[in-house]
Amino acid sequence: MAVRNETARLFTAKDFPSWPQYDEREEKALIEALEAGQWGTLGKRALEFADRFAKYIGVEKVICVNTGTQALELLLRACGIGRGDEVIVPPYTFVATVSAIAWVGAMPVFADVDADTGCLDPASVQKCITSRTKAILAVHVAGRPCDMDALSAIARNAGVYLLEDAAHAHGSEWKGRKAGSLADGAAFSFQSSKVLTGGEGGAVATNNEEIWARAWQYHNSGRAIKGGGELGGVVLMGTNGRMAEWEAAILLRQLERLDAQCKKRAEGAAILEEALRGTPGISLPPHDRRITAWSGFLYQFRWNGASPRSEFLQKLRERGLPCSAGYPALYRMGMLRDVSFERSTGKKFTIEPDCPNTELLAKEAVWFKGSALLAERKTLHKAAVVITEIAQELV
Ligand SMILES: Cc1ncc(COP(=O)(O)O)c(C=O)c1O
Repeated sequence: MAVRNETARLFTAKDFPSWPQYDEREEKALIEALEAGQWGTLGKRALEFADRFAKYIGVEKVICVNTGTQALELLLRACGIGRGDEVIVPPYTFVATVSAIAWVGAMPVFADVDADTGCLDPASVQKCITSRTKAILAVHVAGRPCDMDALSAIARNAGVYLLEDAAHAHGSEWKGRKAGSLADGAAFSFQSSKVLTGGEGGAVATNNEEIWARAWQYHNSGRAIKGGGELGGVVLMGTNGRMAEWEAAILLRQLERLDAQCKKRAEGAAILEEALRGTPGISLPPHDRRITAWSGFLYQFRWNGASPRSEFLQKLRERGLPCSAGYPALYRMGMLRDVSFERSTGKKFTIEPDCPNTELLAKEAVWFKGSALLAERKTLHKAAVVITEIAQELV
């Protein structure tokens, strides 16, 4: 393919499918929700989606909520986590994974990640365990499940909860079991960039009856699960996290598309991977046979050629490729030094984390947008050639 020395835009927005995707099925579902008359308050669709999603990921209980951020907060609260407690978390994630911990009053403790995957490094997690640790919060970055065997063993030995932030991992599997069913509890996001989306929305998933019961009460303004009358039945200090019927109506339809889309994104990533493997300056994530399905939320690799990543990315974007930088190292964020953090946790954030792999990823990670993996195969073959040629030019 003759693309060498080509500086013009080689791809247009039309080459890569827009996201989210919908058709008349979503339109019909929205009209039905509108005409049903009950637009919120534990409506039929939110309950039905909770049930269907629980079956899909293989857990006993799912609670639909407003956002992934709220799902994390509710999950942590439902585990009884608050002031004085520590939660081990990666610094290579979206800000909400960390802010949720501080929001419930606990202290985030940063363990390093694996440089090839961005997922929690079990050896680093082990070093962070103290008598104050109450949970390990694992993030399946880019939809790639963390090493749940190693993390489960650490959590079990330490007697702490293992929780999943599965915001990237709808449909991903670890040894045949779905992300969200691999620990004591999980939080999902259905925000609009996610592979399963209702525009906004989130869910708490668990097999633990006690966690479920507390999360349920917290999300329903503190009401008891059954009976008690309106105010007499308020048994704890909750919030209103209930999902609107619009979101659930869309999510029910989107769930029907999820498996086929995950498969197509995985096939798309395989095209990129085959062409990019061995390209100088590019480090690809390794294969792990324990990962039996992948959501395809985004495809992450590292650029470690001589030219800076910003130049590599600029050239990719000039050609029209939907690529961006990965996460920054979260412990640098102003949020941790702001008075809001101290008010919530009762402490200043003073720890200097030692996370060399996070630093590396913050400098080198490149993300290829997940929805772009749904493009036509010939487009992805061409994208792989263009990425390889830019790498050869800049290495
Ligand atoms: C890893 C991760 N956790 C949590 C969240 C928060 O989800 P939401 O945006 O629905 O609050 C996101 C959303 O981007 C995320 O990527």
